[in-house]
Amino acid sequence: MEYFDRYQGGERAILVSVNVQILQDLDAEEFRLLAKSAGAEVLEHFSAQRYRPDAKLFIGSGKAQELAEFVEAHEAELVIFDHALTPAQERNLERIVQCRVVDRTGLILDIFAQRARTHEGKLQVELAQLDHLSSRLVRGWTHLERQKGGIGLRGPGESQLETDRRLLRIRVGQLKDKLEKVRQTRIQGRAARQKASVPTVSLVGYTNAGKSTLFNILANSDVYAADQLFATLDPTLRRLDWDGIGALVLADTVGFVRNLPHALVESFKATLEETLEATLLLHVIDSSSPDVMEQIEAVEAVLKEIGADVPVLRVYNKIDQSGEQEKIIYAKADLPDRVYVSAHSGQGLDLLRQAVQECLVGQIQVFDLVLKPAYGKLRTQLYALNVIQSEQYDDEGNLHLVVRIAPNKLQQLLGKAHLPLEEILGVAAEKLQRPREAFEIKDEIG
Ligand code: GTP
Repeated sequence: MEYFDRYQGGERAILVSVNVQILQDLDAEEFRLLAKSAGAEVLEHFSAQRYRPDAKLFIGSGKAQELAEFVEAHEAELVIFDHALTPAQERNLERIVQCRVVDRTGLILDIFAQRARTHEGKLQVELAQLDHLSSRLVRGWTHLERQKGGIGLRGPGESQLETDRRLLRIRVGQLKDKLEKVRQTRIQGRAARQKASVPTVSLVGYTNAGKSTLFNILANSDVYAADQLFATLDPTLRRLDWDGIGALVLADTVGFVRNLPHALVESFKATLEETLEATLLLHVIDSSSPDVMEQIEAVEAVLKEIGADVPVLRVYNKIDQSGEQEKIIYAKADLPDRVYVSAHSGQGLDLLRQAVQECLVGQIQVFDLVLKPAYGKLRTQLYALNVIQSEQYDDEGNLHLVVRIAPNKLQQLLGKAHLPLEEILGVAAEKLQRPREAFEIKDEIG
């Protein structure tokens, strides 16, 4: 597939980070990893200090000249900035350094373009790239001869750059239509899952935390995992059947990264929508990273920003490297709060399954119900939800059911049928802590 094509040996790149007082802090190591993830061979990492970015060049003209000399001496093919540059800054810099200049957004988009695997992921990347490129699509491109491929030039941009804005607009329109169709299909799939009350467990986490590796092990599948950032772009779903839990859907999601340009968060929202709908989030954390706290905060900030109001279980991964012991830590209400594992060595994975089970049990429970013959409609509804585990009639024609269902879903059905809980509950009454007021409407059926 064209998206997987890697450039042998990598493009010879120079990285530039400017410590700008009025902007956010930078993470040099993460920037290097991002550049390597895009396939660059890093020749040098330039850094500079500024109070505010220069309007024309972002860096000062002296620094730009220094950069140009270095590019020439080392035959660099690319300069990557750890900042968002304006199209004009990019062009001005390119004139001086005489090679391509890519900014942080372009770099991340390039990684996304290489990693996108599903149809929807590719469409989203293409849209985001076209959006990023459209502002750069001016008649100034002749100042550099465009080569085939390379960081920031991969994916759709390559063929679209030479076309004019009218074609670009048509393409963007087509992409949006296609995306909408794919999205609808996905919403339907999600609705079907919800209808069947199947809990969804989503893996979220900072990029490179080990989500895909964990996903593979838990799902026993072979989803692509690599020692590169953003190895996952699309939510990848697997339906599992776990002892003690039953059917559940496991979803892998795109990795989070600090300072992800806001426009990108928006374009990849669909991949995060899955997160909003989950029953439980597994926040996978690289416990061996020196930046562990910042990474946790970055992920939690994004979750808050997208409005994810879902229980979270922190999964501290890579304990083989960090030296932590495998364990579960419980929080209030005796629910698991944190679990320490290694997806590589397998340490703690049983504890993880146990913790997931304990977290989900509060949400999916087994009820024994006894329905009088007149309650046939409720049985039909439960049957449609696919939650009936077994059913048996007694001599009086009552139906004894064992159902696996979220308590609130059951309450909802009972409420609609105006059925008092006490009427139908077998032995598991204590599991449904339904306030009495909810039963005000009297039984009209029985
Ligand atoms: P993105 O797709 O970038 O979001 O990353 P991810 O969170 O899916 O991480 P991935 O599973 O691709 O793992 C990143 C790297 O960490 C890979 O090189 C894995 O082999 C490595 N890794 C994952 N789990 C462990 C672990 O338990 N211990 C060690 N030592 N390495 C691990």
